Amino acid sequence: MEKGPKRPLFAFWLSQRIDKNMSKKIWTAVDDYIVSSLFEADPVLDAVLAANRDQGLPAIDVSAAQGKLLSLLVRIGGAKKVLEIGTLGGYSTIWMARGLPADGKIVTLELDPHHASVARSNFERAGVSDRVDLRVGPALQSLAALGAENAGPFDLIFIDADKPNNPNYLSWAMRLSRPGTVIVCDNVIRDGAVLDEDGSDANVEGARAAFSFIGGDKRLDGTAIQTVGAKGYDGFAIAIVN
Ligand SMILES: C[S@@+](CC[C@H](N)C(=O)[O-])C[C@H]1O[C@@H](n2cnc3c(N)ncnc32)[C@H](O)[C@@H]1O
Repeated sequence: MEKGPKRPLFAFWLSQRIDKNMSKKIWTAVDDYIVSSLFEADPVLDAVLAANRDQGLPAIDVSAAQGKLLSLLVRIGGAKKVLEIGTLGGYSTIWMARGLPADGKIVTLELDPHHASVARSNFERAGVSDRVDLRVGPALQSLAALGAENAGPFDLIFIDADKPNNPNYLSWAMRLSRPGTVIVCDNVIRDGAVLDEDGSDANVEGARAAFSFIGGDKRLDGTAIQTVGAKGYDGFAIAIVN
């Protein structure tokens, strides 16, 4: 049996780019509707995003609706120990920290010292510094240190850093997990480019590698959800450790 999508499908997708740009307007308007209907006004998170902008950080954090989903996943799973790979300015970290109980902890890993310093002041601003352990450096080194410290098992692990390392991060996530740990891996759809098998885009390859890893590891039971919204068309993979 043939495996995987065929090239003509990807070519068709490329021809639809104009429609996709039109759609982004309505996706953004619906995201605004979700936020205004379901969330209280949040001057702290508004200030966090403003600080990120002022400090020149790229606007590649999760959307508010996705941040809330992460926070809900923390609460639904009763997570007390969370690991995040890829902090940026700490927007997603703050959402997840807010879902933790008072004695909960989130370890978040960031390569860029400037991003980390902006994140640190955002954690202060959001009043979550006591729950956040921010580690600066290449995530693979920080993960090795966490392994050496026996810092696991984590209850929820959110992977959102350099995409080519997805399989390495998933591999570490397995080592730092227990049965029942929830693993979320962001940006695995990439405007549908995940269908592209030709290997010319390292980020797409990273997304495909996440699918291969989750689909190929019997210890994981997973799915992926396509998302549209203010951040465009993407999606996340979610899996539980058996
Ligand atoms: C998509 S952003 C994270 C967004 C954040 N999770 C949020 O939603 O607010 C990815 C972050 O991963 C960081 N990063 C990239 N390569 C890394 C590495 N090797 N180790 C640790 N962090 C890395 C980048 O500097 C960037 O800040």
